[in-house]
Amino acid sequence: MWEYETLIHSHGLFWFITMILFGLTIVLLKSGKLKLAKVIQMSLRILYILLFVTGGALVLMNIWWGALLKGLLSFWLIYMMELISNRMAKNLLSKKDALLFWVQLIISFSAVLYMGYLV
Ligand code: HEM
Repeated sequence: MWEYETLIHSHGLFWFITMILFGLTIVLLKSGKLKLAKVIQMSLRILYILLFVTGGALVLMNIWWGALLKGLLSFWLIYMMELISNRMAKNLLSKKDALLFWVQLIISFSAVLYMGYLV
């Protein structure tokens, strides 16, 4: 049904767009444009679904410990993105939580890129 090459390229495109939309959501929330941020956040969630579908298919097409670990690390990354943007939108992100979540986001994103490109 799906070629591994097509999947990995569309997966690559989806995560690239995801990171841009996440950055845009944070910038819009910080500048108080809450309505527009909400619209972008909705599109971000569609991208999460596309990443789960293409990522899940990649795992199933080539099951090995690296792909499974990569998938788990990606869930951690997406959970951190959702937690940060959600708490910011509700103005419930304390300085302490912000530090904790952003550090986890940077660690998980670095680990995902490492697993995706170097392992
Ligand atoms: C924001 C979230 C995500 C990012 C930034 C991301 C990033 C990447 C990158 C950079 C690659 C390598 C692409 C290439 O070789 O051209 C990759 C491959 C892969 N991703 Fe993701 N991904 C994300 C979400 C997911 C999810 C949710 C899953 C699983 C459900 C997943 C499973 C995989 C798998 C299995 C591969 C192929 C790894 C291999 O066999 O070498 N990814 N991803």
